[in-house]
Amino acid sequence: MKPFLFVTDLDHTFVGNDSALVQLTQMLTEHRREYGTKIVYATGRSPVLYKELQEEKNLVEPDGLVVSVGTEIYLDGSGTPDAAWSEILSVGWNRELVLSITEKITELVPQPDSEQRPFKISFFLQQEVSANVIPLLESELEKYEVNVKLIYSSGIDLDIVPRSSDKGQAMQFLRRKWKFAAEQTVVCGDSGNDIALFAVGNERGIIVGNARPELLEWHSDYPADHRYLAQDTCAGGILEGLQYFGFL
Ligand code: GLC
Ligand code: MG
Repeated sequence: MKPFLFVTDLDHTFVGNDSALVQLTQMLTEHRREYGTKIVYATGRSPVLYKELQEEKNLVEPDGLVVSVGTEIYLDGSGTPDAAWSEILSVGWNRELVLSITEKITELVPQPDSEQRPFKISFFLQQEVSANVIPLLESELEKYEVNVKLIYSSGIDLDIVPRSSDKGQAMQFLRRKWKFAAEQTVVCGDSGNDIALFAVGNERGIIVGNARPELLEWHSDYPADHRYLAQDTCAGGILEGLQYFGFL
């Protein structure tokens, strides 16, 4: 058995199927102890909301924590975000300019303060109007040459982040830092903000059985042999995929 880099979204991916989560956690922690496998969580949640979930579900301590849709990376339980990553994101990022554009669009309802982060501005946007509002917002942002990316998830969450950032780029930053090959890396997800994990390279991918339509649509538009669509939900689907790829 070889060590692998295990990267997973939390809500409705790692978390959401309690009995399977217990089994998966046990297998992963054993693999980490015996072979040096590394565990990374990649979530849209802020550090505050991550902590809540971690306590509620008693999540095992990860080796790396990617929060706020890839815009903050915490290593080895540190309370300070990785400075090298923050440095990369700060190039061309202008929060005030973005906010001056978004405040004119009334359909964009700001998310709670805890979810507004140094490199992430987040809104609620209703699915029914999203197909009109997102292109409008994109063209406004382009006019001002703002260096950002829009990420829409679950038919409600709109995140605006630096173009150099998303879960996929944060995952690759860690993969290179820890020298794991793409073939020895597996990423798991269920919704829109996880597309970046699957799209960025050739890492192995597990889409859980309960995935959202936005991810399933993307997967059928861009099928790949190194991506597995599971039958089972959440951690159950992850176990299925890890066996499929021969990681466990
Ligand atoms: C989490 C975050 C939220 C974000 C969403 C999608 O729910 O709390 O701010 O918009 O993930 O990335
Ligand atoms: Mg999710």
